[in-house]
Amino acid sequence: MPVQTLTPVTPAEQMSIVRCASCHATLDDRTARATCPNCGGLLAVEHTLALPDGETLRARFDERLGVESYRGTAAERSGVWRFRELVLPGARAEEIVSHPEGNTPLVARDAVASFAGVRQLWLKHEGHNPSASFKDRGMTAALTQARRIGAVAVACASTGNTSASLAAYAAQAGIPAFVLVPEGRVSTGKLAQTLAYGAHMIRLRGDFDDCLELAREASERLGIYLVNSLNPFRVEGQKTIVLEMLQQLGWEAPDWIALPAGNLGNTAAFGKALREAYALGLIDRVPRLLAVQAAGAAPFAAGFSDDFATRRRVRAETAATAIRIGDPASWDRAVDAIRFSHGHVAAVSDAEIFAAKRVIDSCGVGCEPASAASVAGVRVLAERGIIGGDERVVAVLTGHLLKDPDAALAARAAGGLGSEESLSREEALGHLARVLASE
Ligand code: F0G
Repeated sequence: MPVQTLTPVTPAEQMSIVRCASCHATLDDRTARATCPNCGGLLAVEHTLALPDGETLRARFDERLGVESYRGTAAERSGVWRFRELVLPGARAEEIVSHPEGNTPLVARDAVASFAGVRQLWLKHEGHNPSASFKDRGMTAALTQARRIGAVAVACASTGNTSASLAAYAAQAGIPAFVLVPEGRVSTGKLAQTLAYGAHMIRLRGDFDDCLELAREASERLGIYLVNSLNPFRVEGQKTIVLEMLQQLGWEAPDWIALPAGNLGNTAAFGKALREAYALGLIDRVPRLLAVQAAGAAPFAAGFSDDFATRRRVRAETAATAIRIGDPASWDRAVDAIRFSHGHVAAVSDAEIFAAKRVIDSCGVGCEPASAASVAGVRVLAERGIIGGDERVVAVLTGHLLKDPDAALAARAAGGLGSEESLSREEALGHLARVLASE
């Protein structure tokens, strides 16, 4: 099934190019390739559109938060396409596949800040996206590209969130979707979404790394458009998590941005966002990135400890299934992100992840296990004095609590959270009175 370009494009419409990070080959921005056709290297989008100075650009992004962001088309209401000059400026309005997405809240909770050991902590809650994870930001860009190139089908390997997001956006675009997930390792919420949105799912007897290898091969052999985070357009969409949080902070960069890290697509996207935001003058200093891995799936944290002298791979194991990844695809780009931002990479145990999740859940915010790694990582670095108590920190919560209801219920069974009783009507009133008296 060859992937064709449906709409001829004029040179004047070329506002971006795609360049291979390894061999530097360039492709036009309607490429159907997710990796370099010459050397298999990772591709990156570069925008060639002339842009005004930082102050003018900030004002333009802020103006878009007017009435059109409430009443306009999906793209006009989107927290991704609000930054379209930095996402995919050449995309025509009719090509954009937008739910809309983004516009996620920055929330502050004293209990979480005090647990983390810093005075100013915001949670950027990406679980408020349409499929309840940050993946929707990259997926709106990837499915827009799929539509631009006339893709016959789209595919990804996933620990669950990418598959749910892909299934939703492919359904909207009317393009068949194939997802490869590791058998027995995807949470119930994510499986339910993926199937309900109508994707073809293969549960592979293997782990995420096996799924990704197979997805790459299938896309190569069958001409299916690959939309894993190594896809350069996914990265462009995911950058807007950073752009939107900077906008919410009045373009005053925080000191640190913490995020959970698995396949490292998001770490790479955050680095690219910061590099561009700084170069364009949207911000006048660069926050430090803190990428946090689960200790049982922490090749990148191990790499950080020897200044990334070698690329590491591990056999991954963690109860935070979303980040159970041993051979991250975006390694090089993520190294660049950490170096550019003078960042840090930490590994936290599953116990530390679930302790953070308990605090985040119990103040009414909630997140899935992997997301809590960001807060757990801030706590570890604050304890070590690497993050100062007065520094301003944003921790990204990547997915919604309901993504993994089993983890939430298991945490409850272990004690401490909420309570439930199965009682008759008569018993219930007595019980209510007793609990009320003890509160
Ligand atoms: N948090 C959540 C909730 C995730 O689902 C993922 C990745 C990450 C963090 C890590 O992001 O891979 O860019 O470093 N989930 C992918 C998936 C792998 O298939 O849904 P990353």
